[in-house]
Amino acid sequence: MATKKSSSATKKQAARKPAAIKSPAGKAPRREDGWGASTLVVHGGEARKKFADSVTTPIVQTSTYVFHDENDIREYTSGQRYRYEYLRYGNPTVDVAQNKIALLEGADASLMFASGMAAITTTLFSMLKSGDHVIFTSDIYKKTLQFIQNDLGKFGVASTMVPPTAEAISAAIQPSTALIFTESPTNPYVHVIDLEKLVKPAKKAGIPVIIDNTFATPYNCRPLEYGVDLVIHSLTKYLSGHNDVMGGVVSGSSELVNKIKATLKTYGGNIDPHAAYLVIRGLKTFALRMDYMNRNSLIIARWLEKHPKIRQVWHSGLPSHPTYKIARKQMPRGIGSCFAFEVDGSLKQVQKFLRSLKIILMGPSLGGTESLISHPATITYYDMTRAQRYALNVTDQLCRLAVGVEDPEDLMADLDQALKSI
Ligand SMILES: Cc1ncc(COP(=O)(O)O)c(C=O)c1O
Repeated sequence: MATKKSSSATKKQAARKPAAIKSPAGKAPRREDGWGASTLVVHGGEARKKFADSVTTPIVQTSTYVFHDENDIREYTSGQRYRYEYLRYGNPTVDVAQNKIALLEGADASLMFASGMAAITTTLFSMLKSGDHVIFTSDIYKKTLQFIQNDLGKFGVASTMVPPTAEAISAAIQPSTALIFTESPTNPYVHVIDLEKLVKPAKKAGIPVIIDNTFATPYNCRPLEYGVDLVIHSLTKYLSGHNDVMGGVVSGSSELVNKIKATLKTYGGNIDPHAAYLVIRGLKTFALRMDYMNRNSLIIARWLEKHPKIRQVWHSGLPSHPTYKIARKQMPRGIGSCFAFEVDGSLKQVQKFLRSLKIILMGPSLGGTESLISHPATITYYDMTRAQRYALNVTDQLCRLAVGVEDPEDLMADLDQALKSI
């Protein structure tokens, strides 16, 4: 019996151990190859010897870089030597953060931006032209949806919104389809897209696929391993992880990332070195935070599902979720800390529940140390009519909880007392 117990414990531990980072096929081995996710986020992408023998990466806070003579200029302009010219084009602190994220995603290269939306808009503008058609899914971040429908529409890019499934996406492919964009898991219903099923028809038709991996994070899913072309994150969320900085990142092949970098140099949505440093700092505990948050969000979702004041819970780690099976296969470590639920009550009762919370704060973000709860109907979708909101499944009762790193028992007690107040 004792042997059986310890072998299952070892199996569990092995299942939880972060996957070793593999060298992309055909690439020279890197110092980081074979490292687990925790070692990688602490040491990956950093020089072993840093300025002034500092342990941490220095913040190089400069808007421009000087040339000392014509040789300097020639070596730089001819591409003989990698160096910096102007902050909008690059920065050493930003480079370290980008290297870390590229290693985490298993990408050739990553490129950082001032926000997640800057990453999305710059990437899509650089990949599309007038006359193209984009397929995107419903249940995604509202600003992304509006950008695709309204802003890209103004420049002659057509789009089709489909339900968040691989089947619906492939059925919407047209001869002019130039891009497929979706989140996985989606926001707020955390539908996990079957990436294998999504990529196959897209590859056959030669259509690039972009995944907004913000809700999953590279700890839980690395879409590039499924053949996805580009992965985008709002760094504002889990990767920086402390609700104190804004940023975005795109990762993929050097060829695609360089193409987007050329657009970024012109559009100017680059990240500031201070913000990049906060991303590096946040990343150091990324694997620890994800492990804890994956576990605690599931504990809380299971508990909420049985609560008499809760109508329904959407957490793809629960068997009741429509994409539970895909999540188990594609995201075995967990689905992150964010999930949705419906309170059993009127709009007024839901508002009373929200204002009765004593630990969980009401706010629209996710992935940070502080638990945040959002009421999409009155926060994100305040400018829509009730009918428009309901067409997007944003009901009066819908709440989105982003579990932080507090003790789960305290969070459940907080939710319980607030639910009992209605
Ligand atoms: C899934 C997702 N993608 C992108 C964004 C935009 O990121 P940012 O707020 O950093 O611009 C958000 C913001 O909430 C998001 O939830």
